[in-house]
Amino acid sequence: MENRQQWGSRYGFIMAAVGSAVGLGNIWRFPAVAYENGGGAFFLPYLFALLTAGIPILILEFTIGHKYRGSAPLSFFRISKKAEWLGWWQVLISFVICTYYAVIISWAVKYTIYSVGTQWGAKPDKFLFGKVLKVSETPGDIGSLVPGVVIPLLFVWAVTLFVLYRGVSRGIEKLNKIFIPTLVIMFLIIVIRALSLDGAADGLNAFFKPNWDKILDGKVWVAAYGQIFFSLSIGFAIMLTYSSYLPKKSDINNNAFITGFANSGFELLAGIGVFAALGFMAKQQGVPIDQVVSSGIGLAFVVFPSIINEFPGWNGLFGILFFLSLVFAGMTSLISIVETFVAGVQDKFNISRTKAVLAGGLTATVISLLFATNGGLYLLDIVDYFINNFGVALAGLVEIILMAWFFKGLTGLQKHANEISDFRTGAWWKFCLAILTPLVLGYMMFDNIRQNLAKNYEGYPTSLIVFAGVVVAAVVILVAVLLPLKRWKANANAEDKKGV
Ligand code: PHE
Ligand code: NA
Repeated sequence: MENRQQWGSRYGFIMAAVGSAVGLGNIWRFPAVAYENGGGAFFLPYLFALLTAGIPILILEFTIGHKYRGSAPLSFFRISKKAEWLGWWQVLISFVICTYYAVIISWAVKYTIYSVGTQWGAKPDKFLFGKVLKVSETPGDIGSLVPGVVIPLLFVWAVTLFVLYRGVSRGIEKLNKIFIPTLVIMFLIIVIRALSLDGAADGLNAFFKPNWDKILDGKVWVAAYGQIFFSLSIGFAIMLTYSSYLPKKSDINNNAFITGFANSGFELLAGIGVFAALGFMAKQQGVPIDQVVSSGIGLAFVVFPSIINEFPGWNGLFGILFFLSLVFAGMTSLISIVETFVAGVQDKFNISRTKAVLAGGLTATVISLLFATNGGLYLLDIVDYFINNFGVALAGLVEIILMAWFFKGLTGLQKHANEISDFRTGAWWKFCLAILTPLVLGYMMFDNIRQNLAKNYEGYPTSLIVFAGVVVAAVVILVAVLLPLKRWKANANAEDKKGV
């Protein structure tokens, strides 16, 4: 433990935590979620979810990582031998996410290059699905590897694994200290430019116009909690892993607030930029805004190229700024996801960081190739849907219930955090984690399952969904049950006996 790696500075840790939080979700998920769930009125449930679930869970994960100083499986093992499986489950979710997250970043890398001379042409959708991804006609038909995606994908992995190999302060911290400020500057330029476009005001009006009727709709609150969970990267051991590298004397509570508000600030900025641009496009095409609102892959790789096409000049530069922002936001998140399972493997098998990066990283690289096939897009869509709806929120729910009601409870953790933090948390912290958030998340899971039983996601064939579900469940059970059976190597056990 003496030679456990550490962050070089508080600023570096915050940049890394913000780097993990600020990702594709801020840019392409938040704007549409807010718009569809009440516009300006959405900020009420969103802020409520941030303050009662997002930041309290961030504090929880920072505290566990700082106190128990291990990867998720090791930290939970140190809390109780019976909790190790939770760590592996979370590590596994991170592993799955990274295999397709890397693929999306590789598209953004390609599109940064395509921006030069707006190579996507007049029909960006045909270009994306036909020329770039070469998507197969039928879902479920995997086809073969698409070389045009495989090459940038290998590039993304090479950079990621190199940064992780360099280590916590010389790799992860250094990269985030460059990428995050650069990302903010690039994105500010985009937003300011977008605001000056004709029609931007209509876009902002549509985005901020409050629809107060929606406030009473349970779905809106569920959407707010879902966005906060995904957006803050909580519930699957990422923030826990990063905080395990904090020096002994570190603030926890204030760092969590800074991370939470920085992420939301970037989300708001993205909402303004995206809707200003959408307002411009709607005006150009003479259609109402709600016809051009979209999110995810469609927004980034189809709608934005169309908007860039219609730009009054400097199109290429605007494209480069936009797609490079996606690359930067994505890379800093990807690195945090991969670090989570690299750390788990390293602790469990007592091997060097280099070996863990190679073993874990190459396995992830090979699996990610599945998403670089002709059928990769369908696969990505399904996996992403189930990860978001069941993986992340469910793991977070189980985490807070176990930590609040079983094992050692929240009191000791709160004491630990309060003793070293700039300011103390009060009874509200325990109330949110033990009662309020479990109730909301519990309802959310219940509602999700009900909806999925009623209707297949996106009308995909039942066989495909059942197959995907069975594979995922089998792997989860295998990993979460088998790995805890393996004893920790001497070093971890010895540390445990010292009563960390
Ligand atoms: N929080 C990131 C976002 O908002 C997404 C993410 C998911 C990051 C999983 C890390 C791990 O886009
Ligand atoms: Na985010």
